[in-house]
This record gives sequence, C-alpha cells and structure tokens, in this order.
Amino acid sequence: MNLYFKKSLYRLVSLILLLAVPSVWALSSSDTNLSTRTSTLTDAYTYSNYDQVKTTHIYLDLNVDFDNKSLTGFAELSLNWLSDKVQPVILDTRDLVIHRIMAQNSNGHWLVVNYKLAKRDDVLGSKLTVNTLFKAKKLRVYYNSTPKASGLQWLSPEQTAGKQKPFMFSQNQAIHARSWIPVQDTPGVRVTYTARITTDKDLLAVMSANNEPDTKLDGDYFFSMHQAIPPYLIAIGVGDLKFKAMSHQTGIYAEASILDAAVAEFDDTQAMIDESEKLFGPYRWGRYDLLILPPSFPFGGMENPRLSFITPTVIAGDKSLVNLIAHELAHSWSGNLVTNESWRDLWLNEGFTSYVENRIMEAVFGLDRAVMEQALSAQDLSYEIAEELPPGDTQLYIDLKGRDPDDAFSGVPYTKGQLFLIYLEEKFGRERFDPFILEYFNSHAFQSLGTANFIIYLKENLTHKYPDIVSDEAINEWIYEQGLPTYIPKPTSNAFTLINDQINNLLSDDITLAQLPTNEWTLHEWLHFINNLPYNVPVVRMTEFDKAFNLTNSSNAEIAHAWYLLSLKTGYKAVFPAMEKYLISIGRRKLIVPLYKELALSESGMAWAKKVYLKARPGYHPLAQGTVDGILNK
Ligand code: BES
Ligand code: ZN
Repeated sequence: MNLYFKKSLYRLVSLILLLAVPSVWALSSSDTNLSTRTSTLTDAYTYSNYDQVKTTHIYLDLNVDFDNKSLTGFAELSLNWLSDKVQPVILDTRDLVIHRIMAQNSNGHWLVVNYKLAKRDDVLGSKLTVNTLFKAKKLRVYYNSTPKASGLQWLSPEQTAGKQKPFMFSQNQAIHARSWIPVQDTPGVRVTYTARITTDKDLLAVMSANNEPDTKLDGDYFFSMHQAIPPYLIAIGVGDLKFKAMSHQTGIYAEASILDAAVAEFDDTQAMIDESEKLFGPYRWGRYDLLILPPSFPFGGMENPRLSFITPTVIAGDKSLVNLIAHELAHSWSGNLVTNESWRDLWLNEGFTSYVENRIMEAVFGLDRAVMEQALSAQDLSYEIAEELPPGDTQLYIDLKGRDPDDAFSGVPYTKGQLFLIYLEEKFGRERFDPFILEYFNSHAFQSLGTANFIIYLKENLTHKYPDIVSDEAINEWIYEQGLPTYIPKPTSNAFTLINDQINNLLSDDITLAQLPTNEWTLHEWLHFINNLPYNVPVVRMTEFDKAFNLTNSSNAEIAHAWYLLSLKTGYKAVFPAMEKYLISIGRRKLIVPLYKELALSESGMAWAKKVYLKARPGYHPLAQGTVDGILNK
C-alpha cells in the first residue's frame, strides 16, 4: 500500500467512525464508579490501573501547531482487559486540555463517555478517569497539549541553527509522555503505535518509528512502529530537517548547516551496530538513524527506537565524544528491548547500557580508550558519592520516596551499575559472562522486568550455575546497599597514571608546562588532567595553563565544562565571559547544572549566575529550566 493511500484510508476511517457516533451522549458528569487503585503494581509514577486494563496500541492523529505551541488532535488507545469486571480506565496526563472522550463497544459503536480530570499533582500530573461503563475495545481522547508541556520544547526560528524555521521535539523519559499524550505512562506497559502528524508544509516530522529516508516534504506524515515499546520511547521531532545516509542502515536527520559535520563525526555508527550484534545478538529494530537536535536538548542523547535523539555538543570534530552514540545504540538491547519496569529499576536500563556502551567502544576503538572512559566515569562517581549525593541515592535499587524521578537522576544507576557488571565479568570471565548477557537479552526481549526478577534470573543463570564465585550477599550489597563495595573494580589506565605523575611533577616545579606531552593527548587525557588538578592551584598557574592551551575557549564542550568547573573552584575569573556564552548557548543539563550549582555556593557567584540565567532561561528546555530554577531560587 503506498503511503498516500494509507493516509487517505486513515482519514476516511476516522471520518466514518465520527459519523457513527450515536446521538445518545453517555451520562452526566456525576463521578460514578471511581475506584482507587488497590493492587501490587510496582510503578508508583503512574495513576493507571494497568493491572486491570492494558493499552496495546496507540494511534495518534496530531497537528503540530507552532503558533500556539500545541499538539492538537486525538489519541486512540486499543485496550486489552485483564480484569473480568468493568473498571474505569485511568490514564496519566499533565497540563492537557481534554475536549471529549469516546469509547468503542464490542459492536464497534462509538459512544461519548464520561470522564473526570483530577487536580494536578506536581510530580504525577492529573489523573484522568474514564468511565466507559463497558469494556471498551478502544478509547479516543480528543485533546490538545499546552505550551507548558514538560515533555516538549518549542523553538522559535531564531533559536535554531538555520534561523529560518521553527523546531519542536519531545523528551518523554521519565514521565513526560503524559504531557503530550493521554497514556498509561509506565514502562510496565508496552504499545505499538501509528501516527498521522500534520504540520507546516515546509517542515519534516520524524518519529521513533519507520522514518523513510526519501519521505516527501508535504507537512502530512504517517508513521508506524510495529514493535511494542514503553510510552517513554514514543518520540517526535519537527523542523527544517535534511537527511543524509551514512550506510545502508544508518543516517542522520539534522538542520542543513550541521549535517555534514554530524555525518563525519558519527560515521562509525554502522561499525558499532555490527560489533554489538556480534556480542549481544541481532539489532531488531530495522534502521538506526540519528536526529541531531538544537543545543538546548537537555540530555546528551535519548535512545528513541530507530531514531536516537542527539545533542550537537558531541560534534567535536575528532570523534572524541562518540561514546554517546555507542550508549544510545546500546539501549537497543538494554532499555528498549529489555526494559526497566519502574523508575526505581533505572539501573537495569542505564547500568547495562553503560556496560554495553563500553564494550562497543572497546570493540570499535580499542581497549585503551574503553578503559580511559571507564576510569573517567568511575572517578566522577566516587566524587559524586563522596561530595554530592544523599546516601539514599547511592543505592542501585533506589527508594525515590515520591520525588520526581528527574530529581534523583545521578551517576549511580549508570556507573555503579556498570561497575557491578564489570565485577561479574571479571569474576566469571567473558567466556561465561558474555553468553549470560546475550541470553538475558534474548529471553526478555520486548518485556519489562524489575530488580527482584533480575536477581532471580542472575542467580539461576550465572551465580548459582557457577557456584562459589559470587555470593548472594555480594549481589545484595551491590544492589540494595548504599555507597560502593570495598571490592569494586578499579579501572586503571596507564596513560592516566602517567598524567598523575606529570601533575605532581608540574606542581612541584620538577617539569615545566612545555614538557607536558599535550600534543599527543586525547580528549580523555585532557579531561583526566583537568579533573585531577587540585582546587588550590594558584590563579597564576591557571593563567599559565590557559595561556599555553587556551582551555577557556576550547571548542570541545566537555573540556570547556571541566575547565570552567575547575576555574570556579580555584577562583580563576578570566573564564567568566566565555562561560557566559557557553551557558547561554548550551542547554544540556549535564554540562550546565554543575556550573550553576558551583556558582550558587558564593554570593557573588549566585548574583552573576542569576544575571546570566535571565538571558539563558528562554532558550532552555522546560526540564533544564526546572532544574536551574531550583538551584538559583533558593
Ligand atoms: N536515557 C538516557 C537519558 C535519560 C535518563 C533521560 C533518565 C531521562 C531519564 C540516555 O540514554 C542517557 O543516558 N544519556 C546520557 C548519555 C551518556 C551517559 C553517554 C546523557 O544524556 O548524558
Ligand atoms: Zn542511557
């Protein structure tokens, strides 16, 4: 069926369904049959009764309205009833305007049904209770999102690289899908989806679905995602996008002015897929494309299936930051194929992904680089645990205590999770560990699971299968206890050991700056060098370093970040003008939040930060705005 025909068919079917609405408008607004949830559901971040009724498929029919910063249309949810009794269908929403809800009965008739939208909770949003009074096969919710949507960013033309056309993108993880789709917003539910997206004729829409490289630009797009995914992986981007292939399976969507640079930076993506498949089994999603977002994207990357969303701040010109691509690709196994069932289990997604990412980096770029990347993350984690995190947040299986999952985000699920897996790998050897991981992915493909079930699987298939190597107590310590076990693996890079010596020699004047072999340093060595300079380095030294290496104006976003942070800690003020530009032009939380936090520690820093933030805030994503508001408005 060709695409045009498919679109027309959808329109026609939609129209017939609408006309088939009986004139009996169901019920008054009285709040009948509203039950509160009394089950053992594991995800505390959804209102939905997904143990009683589960969404299996979603059809989205949405217009992307840039003038009103709104998605308008309807979502049609196909339902699978698990409960014998009729139950209200409870959905998650946040800041949505609901126009009307219809339900399809077993005869195929559509009826307007009664619903109640509860008061907004700051973390969870507004519970939407739909009283169908029968076991509806499908629900249709007519709605629009509002400019407040926490999961969408609307950029004016001036905020894009091309400056001519607007841009909009979504970021659903963890619980922001509900800000633009009424949905059972939990990773415990998996849905297939189709979508018809209309927008300005000269803009291209892409989704975490079947994007066709040769899509005609006409403002009317149809998408289909046949594999069942959790709602946090439904994603959309709309802008002045061009496509360029990197290989038969991979390509890049980006604004024209950065497309070639992105293709050059990420042209190892196919090799990464090939290496992953050797280690972890087939890549099951068809194409793997990248969407390069504007610099305000609040994350480094987001693993939206078939189409990872990527920050432009990793286009460094030398492939030094492409572990980000390995990371988002790795989620095609850990996260997207095998999914954490609640946000308390995030470590299952991110710890495994960090492990897989590093294995991909080793396979494509060699062991030295992979170990340097491990060592950098391990050092960041030790610092975070020692200096920043409340002890409760240092557990892999975290107790979120009703907080917004975004607020408990840290390196723990990533790097402590990764170190746990490296520990198992070292204990059992790759000959036993690699088949275990492969089988873990295969046996849980397209399923969600939680920490307790993972532990059962781990024992059965690894630690009890090869007994007396890793005890049950050790597993419990890694997963349920705070801090780091004394026996954590310590990734050691010879190159880094050398740099430690050089730092000592330099600070005790045994060598001069000119004697540092910086010409041969990789990004990783630079980062290790900057991160390991003590905070009492005198300002004159900082000035010397800067004069010799021009770190303040580094075009590598990670180096600039590390240098600005050190400058704040050592009181080296010459970075302020460059740091101001940086904070205004980049919205990636990992790069900006630590700087704001450090600035907020002193009165003068706070005053300066507030001044800069006034200019930066309008360009930030709602998520970044929320985080920085929290830091500066104390
Ligand atoms: N899935 C995450 C981003 C995320 C996690 C969003 C939790 C919301 C809640 C993504 O895969 C990620 O981890 N990105 C990192 C990549 C880095 C570790 C290489 C990032 O954005 O920095
Ligand atoms: Zn990740």
